[in-house]
Amino acid sequence: MSFRIQPQPPARPNRCQLFGPGSRPAIFEKMARSDADVINLDLEDSVSPDDKAEARKNIIQAIGDIDWGTKHLCVRINGLDTPYWYRDIVDILEQAGDRIDQFMIPKVGNAADIYAVDALVTAVEAAKGRTKPVALEVIIETAAGIAHVEEIAAASPRLQAMSLGAADFAASMGMATTGIGGTQENYYMHREGQKYWSDPWHWAQAAIVAACRTHGVLPVDGPFGDFSDDEGFRAQALRSATLGMVGKWAIHPKQVALANEVFTPSDDAVREAREILEAMEEAKRTGQGAAVYKGRLVDLASIRQAEVIVRQSEMIAG
Ligand code: COA
Ligand code: MG
Repeated sequence: MSFRIQPQPPARPNRCQLFGPGSRPAIFEKMARSDADVINLDLEDSVSPDDKAEARKNIIQAIGDIDWGTKHLCVRINGLDTPYWYRDIVDILEQAGDRIDQFMIPKVGNAADIYAVDALVTAVEAAKGRTKPVALEVIIETAAGIAHVEEIAAASPRLQAMSLGAADFAASMGMATTGIGGTQENYYMHREGQKYWSDPWHWAQAAIVAACRTHGVLPVDGPFGDFSDDEGFRAQALRSATLGMVGKWAIHPKQVALANEVFTPSDDAVREAREILEAMEEAKRTGQGAAVYKGRLVDLASIRQAEVIVRQSEMIAG
């Protein structure tokens, strides 16, 4: 038990983060017109080393030129183990307008990684007189990242969101798979001639959700690589939402609607949550802490559960 009140994460929708390579400026307008809440212009792993400088220029141009509407606009910088990342930050903050909202740091391993980026961002912002502080988001996609997930979540007041990056995570952990998220063929229980597939991402997701909820950060599920598999995407996203994540990446535009559908509370879910709140109001009026709703127990914890759904729905409705 703790007397500290759990902080709320940023009150902005983060149901879908649409990615696009910074080296492919032809799709930037399409990204801006999509229904994704967050746009991630990429300088990291979808851009080959020879194209890094050009991609940076494209992004600097696009931040100012394109009408991004109300989208949360983020640039994924290169990892701190590369020679590119400092220039990603310095060039963008020195040359791009203040429409940029956030940097995404890939492959974070510990709180000091965030500290280093925070220090550089703070210095460039001060030098250029930028008045809008740029937020940060991180990807947990290494063994070190998951081992230090809680100190990472606590590392900076700039930190708004944390994603699980399944592909690099699998590589770093030495997992025997080349799939990006979703069901893994060889991860099953066996009984009486039947296979029952289990979820190898579950514990990492739960660890991320716990770290994020402790420190008021948005927990997000990362990419699902097979964009021809809508049902696989939906199943993965539903599991993530059930565990407490607020959204998922799209690595192809067709995944945006799927993510929005899963991470927007359904009308039925919102109606039921409101009915539970009403049932508890009624119980309070008659001096009771517990009541029966549709044949099942509801009590003070049910209020907190129902409020999560109602709050999410109201925030998305704006
Ligand atoms: N955002 C917005 N629009 C996109 C898009 C994206 N990420 N990717 C493709 N499109 C557009 C295409 O331009 C095309 O538009 P059109 O109908 O006007 O011609 C349409 O969506 C269909 O594209 P499609 O032909 O199916 O895909 P593709 O072969 O052009 O590109 C990928 C497929 C996977 C290479 C591309 O979607 C991509 O680069 N995704 C992001 C990768 C990334 O950023 N990875 C890093 C994070 S893991
Ligand atoms: Mg990665």
